[in-house]
Amino acid sequence: MPTPLLEVQELRTWFSTSSGIAKAVDGVSFNLNAGETLAIVGESGSGKSITALSLMQLVPEPAGYIESGRILYGGKDLLDLTWEQMRSLRGKDLAMIFQEPMTSLNPVMTVGWQIREAMEVHGKYRGDEARQRTLSLLDKVGIRDPKQIVKQYPYELSGGMRQRVMIAMALSNDPKILLADEPTTALDVTVQAQILDLLANLQKQLGMTMLLITHDLGIVSRVAHRVAVMYGGQIVEQAETKQLLSNPQHPYTQGLIASLPTRARRGEDLYTMEGVVPAPTAWPVGCRFAARCPRKWELCERVIPDVYTAEDGRPVRCHLYSPTELDKTKSPAEVAS
Ligand SMILES: Nc1ncnc2c1ncn2[C@@H]1O[C@H](COP(=O)(O)OP(=O)(O)OP(=O)(O)O)[C@@H](O)[C@H]1O
Ligand SMILES: [Mg+2]
Repeated sequence: MPTPLLEVQELRTWFSTSSGIAKAVDGVSFNLNAGETLAIVGESGSGKSITALSLMQLVPEPAGYIESGRILYGGKDLLDLTWEQMRSLRGKDLAMIFQEPMTSLNPVMTVGWQIREAMEVHGKYRGDEARQRTLSLLDKVGIRDPKQIVKQYPYELSGGMRQRVMIAMALSNDPKILLADEPTTALDVTVQAQILDLLANLQKQLGMTMLLITHDLGIVSRVAHRVAVMYGGQIVEQAETKQLLSNPQHPYTQGLIASLPTRARRGEDLYTMEGVVPAPTAWPVGCRFAARCPRKWELCERVIPDVYTAEDGRPVRCHLYSPTELDKTKSPAEVAS
């Protein structure tokens, strides 16, 4: 059995908005096992970033708040820690890299200063040791001339280089868990592939545990051991990457895979999923995917599905896998009529 390093249980992160409470993350549970990469995938607005920010306790306040749930790490619930305790954990135990590095790099400080500063804050590496480590980290993330780069400012670097610097900074205090939120979306395709390979190699080399967030199911096979698919603030299916891609069970996962552009390149028909994710201020009463689901039953719009066990034991939130609730003797059309 894999050892969970982090256990997220029934996490709910909500926002007070002028149109009501936005239940952005609404009952998310998953384990992050030591030494694995888990990808969270899902369309825009499904709650991926807010899940990651909740783990770091960096949800934008005061509108956003963690309504309930548990985030267990090292036998403790992170939600019980004080602000000070959580601050000392950030960077050292849990580090995060973001989609757009320019927003997290300081434009008026050199790259070298910023990486050293990230270390000095925690006091694990200081002075000359921090200086040496900065060079070796830049080398590790594939930067060819670290001595030159440390003297430069973020705006002098390309997007790919900046993302490498961000990764070096995230690794600077040897985090146990790296959260990477769309780390390659802002980059062009070739650089994207390089950065993903870099992350996969670092994860292996350092035995790190990684949570990779992406809206692109096409990239997960390159990096992730397991995948959790998010829809409407919830996880709808979790499985090993290979099984998920070759044999998706939830109609939403099936739609995501059928609409992958790589299929069109292979000459297969490309599927377009109609409709959009509903607003988090007004989740439907039944299944949140029902309005878009090609396999829906009458029941689906009335009753929210639980998480059921589907093929190979994987958890799937869909009535199709309910042992009892669905009258499987009738076709969806008969039920609807
Ligand atoms: N500051 C905020 N105030 C109100 N609602 C918010 C706020 N931030 C996020 N939300 C809501 O939470 C939901 C989930 O947002 P989140 O950023 O987690 O989506 P995502 O899955 O990361 O999408 P993307 O792929 O676009 O990054 C969104 O529908 C958004 O409306
Ligand atoms: Mg996001």
